[in-house]
Amino acid sequence: MHNLPDYPTEGNSPWLKKQQAAGQRSKRIIVGIIIGVLILVVVGVAAGVSLSKKNSSSSSSASAGSPANPDAVNQTDPNDPSTFVKNPNLHQSFYGMAYTPDGSQLPNCGNSLANVITDIQLLSQLTKRIRLYGADCNQTALVLEAIQRTKVDMQVWVGNYPVATDNNAAYDRQRDTLKAAIQTYGTSNIAGMTVGNEFELNYLNDNGGTVPNSAVGDQGAALIIADITDTRSMLTGLSLPSPMPVGNADAGSYFNTKVLQAVDYGMANVHPWFANVSAEAAAGWTAEFFQENNVEVAAALSNNPKMYIAETGWPTQSSDVGNESNGPGTAAISGLQTFLDTFVCQANTNGTGYFFFEFADEPWKDAQFGGVEGWWGLFNFNRTLKNVNIPNCQSP
Ligand SMILES: *[C@@H]1O[C@H](CO)[C@@H](O)[C@H](O)[C@H]1NC(C)=O
Ligand SMILES: *[C@@H]1O[C@H](CO)[C@@H](O)[C@H](O)[C@H]1NC(C)=O
Ligand SMILES: *[C@@H]1O[C@H](CO)[C@@H](O)[C@H](O)[C@H]1NC(C)=O
Ligand SMILES: *[C@@H]1O[C@H](CO)[C@@H](O)[C@H](O)[C@H]1NC(C)=O
Ligand SMILES: *[C@@H]1O[C@H](CO)[C@@H](O)[C@H](O)[C@H]1NC(C)=O
Ligand SMILES: *[C@@H]1O[C@H](CO)[C@@H](O)[C@H](O)[C@H]1NC(C)=O
Repeated sequence: MHNLPDYPTEGNSPWLKKQQAAGQRSKRIIVGIIIGVLILVVVGVAAGVSLSKKNSSSSSSASAGSPANPDAVNQTDPNDPSTFVKNPNLHQSFYGMAYTPDGSQLPNCGNSLANVITDIQLLSQLTKRIRLYGADCNQTALVLEAIQRTKVDMQVWVGNYPVATDNNAAYDRQRDTLKAAIQTYGTSNIAGMTVGNEFELNYLNDNGGTVPNSAVGDQGAALIIADITDTRSMLTGLSLPSPMPVGNADAGSYFNTKVLQAVDYGMANVHPWFANVSAEAAAGWTAEFFQENNVEVAAALSNNPKMYIAETGWPTQSSDVGNESNGPGTAAISGLQTFLDTFVCQANTNGTGYFFFEFADEPWKDAQFGGVEGWWGLFNFNRTLKNVNIPNCQSP
């Protein structure tokens, strides 16, 4: 979701068309997921905006253009972020949540500890697990610091988001940042280190490939496996009290087998919105896609990597009418509500590890890409809850 330059979107990718013509077993599913990942891997530069951290006794000093909302979270002690007042409308029902602190893309870092503390206060009322995508703009340290200050029960799957074309500069930079974060904060709040986000999808697209388990796919796999191996040796060098799981995230139909054989866990994007299904059918579609394409595939490997859904959700609006519907699916709060009601607690019961997409709307994506891109949050950008009822079940 970050760092990479322009990405082809639905309709203008020859690669997509080729894939659509390929006539695979689950064509509907595959096409849907391809479109989904194409749109969701959109990348760019975060808007230079930030929220101001507020509490019950301080006054707001929002700068121009800032969506600061002084009432997003209140604290009984303004100086102690652990004293936040819980919102009775929030429930710790989600297995996990996809999260990117606002302002965490180079070169326009605009995040702040105050804003991340607000986010962690809210996130901790929804889940005990979050995943990050990358490590730029000090986001790993900010999140771990915020967890310490808020004293919440939260595990983080930290991320390293490499690119294939930069002589490993992004990978090396983030590896060093992740190492420093572990040296500062330890590993008690880190559940795993994810190396690669849609690396194989991007590599295939950039190199004229379409199939992850192919010669081109294996070339991409070799690059990311080298990073995974390097990360393992960095972690070994830290002599951690227990081994840190190392994983990889990609589109649900883009896992290369050699990559899966090199990791402890895989995280798969599985997006019903892009699969030409209704909101009512979305939860069942997601469960079936994940089981067939990811869980069963991983279970057949001797290292048996644990599989998670890295992203799944439903957009609440589109900035243009043309992208408001995808077949029987419509971007709407009612659709998000339906998906929440039919997926969240049921997936918990089924033992599915998933990261809901996503915590809050991301206006920079809307500005850059339009359509439904910026509108996947449970929260608005200003950290008010959208008009949805959060399911009420305790996540595992
Ligand atoms: C925080 O306090 C303000 C002022 O009392 C109130 O208007 C607001 O709704 C509170 N916010 C939350 C999330 O409860
Ligand atoms: C990163 O964030 C941590 C936690 O707020 C802070 O202590 C550290 O100084 C920050 N580092 C940089 C380079 O900004
Ligand atoms: C959907 O949104 C994208 C990104 O803004 C845009 O390029 C495309 O034209 C839109 N499609 C339709 C059918 O409106
Ligand atoms: C989407 O699904 C509808 C039925 O719900 C079907 O009529 C239509 O052909 C499908 N479109 C695509 C592109 O698969
Ligand atoms: C849960 O499992 C049942 C039975 O296999 C399946 O029908 C359903 O789609 C699953 N739902 C979710 C949300 O995982
Ligand atoms: C937060 O954003 C939503 C959606 O844009 C808006 O309706 C609401 O009025 C905003 N609330 C505050 C307190 O800024």
